Amino acid sequence: MRKEDRKRNDLLHLLDSSDSYISGQRLADAAGISRSAVWKDIRRLRMYGYSIESLHGMGYRLVGKTPLPVPWELKKALRTSFIGKAILYRDVADSTQRIALSIAEKTPGSHGMVIIAEQQKNGRGRMKRKWISPSGGLWMSIILEPEIPVRMITLLPFVAAIAASHAIRKCTGLGTKLKWPNDVMFSGKKLAGILLDVSSEADQINYAVIGIGINANIDHSYISGRIQKKSGEQKITSISSETGHEVNRLELAKVLLEELEEYFLELTHNDGKPIIEEWKKNTDMLGRKVSVMHGDKAMHQGTAIDIASDGSLVIRTEEGKTINIISGDVRVRY
Ligand code: BTN
Repeated sequence: MRKEDRKRNDLLHLLDSSDSYISGQRLADAAGISRSAVWKDIRRLRMYGYSIESLHGMGYRLVGKTPLPVPWELKKALRTSFIGKAILYRDVADSTQRIALSIAEKTPGSHGMVIIAEQQKNGRGRMKRKWISPSGGLWMSIILEPEIPVRMITLLPFVAAIAASHAIRKCTGLGTKLKWPNDVMFSGKKLAGILLDVSSEADQINYAVIGIGINANIDHSYISGRIQKKSGEQKITSISSETGHEVNRLELAKVLLEELEEYFLELTHNDGKPIIEEWKKNTDMLGRKVSVMHGDKAMHQGTAIDIASDGSLVIRTEEGKTINIISGDVRVRY
């Protein structure tokens, strides 16, 4: 453990173990740092979301733990066997996906590593779109080295979408629904998205990086204003816009990663059928009229009837043909 991480942990431990004020001097002595270093560390902890009261002549008192997915708290809270054993956290990143891809490429054996950013300056979405990622969202990428046949990799985004949908539902009570291929929706509006990057050989997966973006505590108009003007995309929402209050992102990240591990193991131990079944349980689009889009143009219209074993969307067209859609965007008529 790095020296500064140990000092921060010592300080937090001291503050957490006392109900009353602890003087700056006592904190300094116990953590082996100067009083001005204590003051700086307290300021940093407040920036990371801890609520710490200070009273002249009395010292400091911890009144609220952080709701942010900072790695030292997330690691402590996680009940997983491999996901999140290593966590990289950035206040600002270009894109967690790009960071994860570069780590996965350079450092084989990074299975389970999680990269989280409070803010992304250049977040990536599907189909080469930009993903608007202001502070307040949950933006993360997970490196996996799945030992599954290459043909099953198309089911990995399903695993992530199921995990995100379950986690949002558990932490907020919002009745989320999945929309093919892997959007998490609430009330017909997009709440979260999944991105998959894979490096594979003919018969072997080297690594996969799953990117998960959840519009958590964000004013949804900030995002939709920037997106809809550009491409006439589907409607966007956020957790806080729907519930009227902020979700604890530390809790959300914990549940999300635990669900991700559970369904990832399900995928690796079985043939993929239980994943498709679980996905179908969480969608309301089957049986509805859909348009398969290419940009703003509808390429096919019909009824969504099933999800095939490879994850493709099965559509019965208006001409009565059955077709499988492998990739792209779909508009659903509710
Ligand atoms: C989509 O277009 O629906 C997928 C969006 C995925 C966004 C996430 S946020 C964390 C990770 N880093 C990125 O740059 N993109 C993904």
